[in-house]
Amino acid sequence: MLKTLIVYFSFGGTTARVAESIAAGLRSAGQKVELHNIREGAPRNIEGYDAIGIGTPAYYFRPAFNITEYIRSLSDLHGMQAFVFTLYGTYPGAAGNDVRKALSSAGAEEIGYFKCRGADFFNGYLREGYLFSADNPTANELALAERFGKTLAGVMSGRAYVAPPDDPEPPLMYRIERLLSGRWLVKRIYSRLFSVKRQKCTACNICVQLCPTQNISVDAAGRPVWKNNCLLCVCCEMKCPEEAITSPLSWPLFYPAILYNVNRASRDPSIPHAKVRQSRGETTRL
Ligand SMILES: Cc1cc2nc3c(=O)[nH]c(=O)nc-3n(C[C@H](O)[C@H](O)[C@H](O)COP(=O)(O)O)c2cc1C
Repeated sequence: MLKTLIVYFSFGGTTARVAESIAAGLRSAGQKVELHNIREGAPRNIEGYDAIGIGTPAYYFRPAFNITEYIRSLSDLHGMQAFVFTLYGTYPGAAGNDVRKALSSAGAEEIGYFKCRGADFFNGYLREGYLFSADNPTANELALAERFGKTLAGVMSGRAYVAPPDDPEPPLMYRIERLLSGRWLVKRIYSRLFSVKRQKCTACNICVQLCPTQNISVDAAGRPVWKNNCLLCVCCEMKCPEEAITSPLSWPLFYPAILYNVNRASRDPSIPHAKVRQSRGETTRL
């Protein structure tokens, strides 16, 4: 029986749902499938698997850092078949392209690429009142993901595969945003610049529990302290019930970029959106 490993990162749950659907497709073709959300860890030794699937949300027009780092930690993928899936709320940019490139540079042979929309809980957009791709993935997109899983099984059994072209490069403004949210800047600079208002923080620990990379510890008073393994998901800021946390992305410096993205995406008829209110850590649809 062929055995496939699927490793993905999911915070909001959409990438997880697509991963489950792809797994259902593979299983219906008689395969054994193992799924890991990288938040809970993932195998570094991939001996014994016939194929590996990597799933990531687009984060700042690239894959999430923990996914890129995971691929880098897998030393040699020669002889391994690999597929990629990516979720995006507005424009995926190079999220899928970068994962595909990283896998093939490590020697893997691509057998599939799938992408679809996923509800975009990016704090900057929520605060402006927009939840992009609010109801994605749809039932139809999940059915397509399952069919993708079946197709993968066919390719693993010898059916021909024609790789789709790379996704188009995003417009200049998004490439600038991608540069401004690069790994080095996040690790060395932004991760030091999160702040918490002493008088507001109740030491409830929600930010610590939610951080997908366990990047937050607490000081003697139970208030959050950030280390440098940050994905810039800003879920700590988004979910704080006291609105006590400020991420560097909330600085006025980044506001024009956020406004540009919101204006552009909200006027793009191909991107569905819902109007929302973001308050005290809760997102309410209007
Ligand atoms: C911090 C952050 C950055 C994001 N950056 C992008 C992006 O550059 N392009 C895009 O289309 N969607 C972006 N999104 C939206 C996510 O890719 C999308 O909502 C995805 O479905 C989330 O996956 P999850 O539900 O598995 O966490 C971003 C979301 C967050 C939270």
